Amino acid sequence: MTTPLPDTHPDTASGTAVTPAALPSILLVGSGKMGGAMLEGWLAQGLAPSVIVDRHRDTLPAPHRIVRAIEDVPADFTPDVIVLAVKPQKADPALHSLAARFPAATLLSVMAGRSIASLKAVYGAGTGVVIVRAMPNTPSLLGAGMSGLYAPPEATPEHKRHCESLLRAVGETVWVDAEGLIDSVTGISGSGPAYVFLLAELLTKAGVEQGLPEDTARILARETIYGAGRMLHTLPTDAAELRRNVTSPGGTTAAALAVLMADDAWPATTSAAVAAAVTRAKELSG
Ligand SMILES: NC(=O)c1ccc[n+]([C@@H]2O[C@H](COP(=O)([O-])OP(=O)(O)OC[C@H]3O[C@@H](n4cnc5c(N)ncnc54)[C@H](OP(=O)(O)O)[C@@H]3O)[C@@H](O)[C@H]2O)c1
Repeated sequence: MTTPLPDTHPDTASGTAVTPAALPSILLVGSGKMGGAMLEGWLAQGLAPSVIVDRHRDTLPAPHRIVRAIEDVPADFTPDVIVLAVKPQKADPALHSLAARFPAATLLSVMAGRSIASLKAVYGAGTGVVIVRAMPNTPSLLGAGMSGLYAPPEATPEHKRHCESLLRAVGETVWVDAEGLIDSVTGISGSGPAYVFLLAELLTKAGVEQGLPEDTARILARETIYGAGRMLHTLPTDAAELRRNVTSPGGTTAAALAVLMADDAWPATTSAAVAAAVTRAKELSG
């Protein structure tokens, strides 16, 4: 179903990143939470001279340029890849403007729930645009992102290489071989950081209920998630075995897991939560 790539992604333990090949030039449309997170990663990695359409930001390190609207993109600039990271419902005006200026673009859409067909319909049937979809997540800000990508049959190896190199620069990537699976990626890794943040909130609250000062409970929750995440990331052991390794029969962890692993507890709520995210992504697709 997916094609994992060799593990050359950033070493999050040391905060350093593996140097990728030179990143292609981009026109970034939408540098909010997701576009902004990726942009920080790309800037840190040495992006080819690029243009950002941003209505709020005033400065960007040279040689990159900021403009306020797509219509203001300098005439001498043709990006290797246009990255579209606006809210799905705000995409259409941007697509019309882009189609007028870059009819044969390579477009990398990171929008949840906008199919390639729906984007192409707005871009214009007669254009030579090639649209690749990706679903990144916000840890891209730290070079620890996780992205699923889908390329349609008309995408060439170069289209795929350009798009993949951008996502690889900010984390790990997997290709999926059906566009509908991007919705599934959304439900796991696109929305997933929020699930982990919620876990940190709930553990903090539970710690306070057990008598800990809130600051102490917050540090315990946060660092436990970080440490467990690093074990998952670094060790060759899978999650179930790691869990069993820290669960003594009759011990404290076993007592907690008996509650969490009840059929109507985490197994059911996690499946239902991911299904709700996937359903919402499909609803947004229209
Ligand atoms: N957040 C995530 O974790 C996440 C994860 C995976 C994928 N995504 C996808 O990423 C996309 C953006 O989400 P977000 O959370 O980053 O939203 P966001 O924070 O609202 O960012 C969207 C940005 O796009 C700008 N924008 C809208 N129309 C524009 C235009 N025509 N030209 C230039 N900029 C324009 C907005 O500027 P204004 O404020 O001026 O309108 C805003 O800064 C969504 O499609 C979402 O599905 C998000």
